[in-house]
Amino acid sequence: MNNQRTITLIQPNNRDSEPPLANRYMLSQLSIPVLSKNILQEKIFRLTLSSAYISQRAKPGNFVHIRVGSTGNPLLRRPFSIHSVDISKSRFDILFRVVGKGTELLSQANPGEVLDILGPIGNSFILPPKSKEVMLVAGGMGIAPLWFLFTHMLAKGFDPSRITFLFGAKNKRELLYLEKFKKSKVKLLVTTDDGSLGSKGLVTEAFLKDIIGGNRDHQNLAVYSCGPEMMLARMSDLAKEYGFSCQVSLETNMACGVGACWGCVVKLSDGTYQRVCADGPVFDAQKINFSKIA
Ligand code: FES
Repeated sequence: MNNQRTITLIQPNNRDSEPPLANRYMLSQLSIPVLSKNILQEKIFRLTLSSAYISQRAKPGNFVHIRVGSTGNPLLRRPFSIHSVDISKSRFDILFRVVGKGTELLSQANPGEVLDILGPIGNSFILPPKSKEVMLVAGGMGIAPLWFLFTHMLAKGFDPSRITFLFGAKNKRELLYLEKFKKSKVKLLVTTDDGSLGSKGLVTEAFLKDIIGGNRDHQNLAVYSCGPEMMLARMSDLAKEYGFSCQVSLETNMACGVGACWGCVVKLSDGTYQRVCADGPVFDAQKINFSKIA
């Protein structure tokens, strides 16, 4: 059983039911064992963690904040999107690429080790009406939260033939889960930077080609995206230009991860600021001022 203590915070969560932004809830600090570690590709890891508490509460878009070392170095926790959950087995996954000291340390965690984790944190993607055409646009490790959203939609009875998944990566080795995508019967479009699989080039341009060439009703699109910041900036521009709804999950460095330090703010188009950890990480792409981020 997880050791658990609770911390009371001002925290918005879960827009499925549209609670007030300053909804107060109990955030849990948990001691969670690692169940398994999979190396999916060079430097890309998937950790499976044992927690009934998180698996039962997590919604697509939520993240966990993990203390990656036991020595206080690095001092700050690292945020990771929840990548999938299995409620029946009381476990959830995170997916990450090793990009620095924090992720390097986490990649060394082995089954049986216990991690100090806060979560689940943050808001979640708002599901569209089933009449909408869904497009999921992932760049690189942006697949992490979108895979959870995708599988959640299928579990909720969304028709896979009305879902298009666009996935861009550096090369074909980093295009994860291709077999699973095939089995799901979703329409999958892939791009790679080096042209080793799918179209060569940016996933945003494949998306643009599809929504223009596909003669789609832009008003009927529900688009979800996660990936590098410049990619999301492009998605935001396209959402404004073509008038489709687009929710993006932002990734940024976080200190407290719980809304207290204002170290993770993003500027909105109306000039106000919001915290990625506490007001996001999911935002309406049209409302973010990406030029200020860039
Ligand atoms: Fe402290 Fe977001 S990381 S407010």
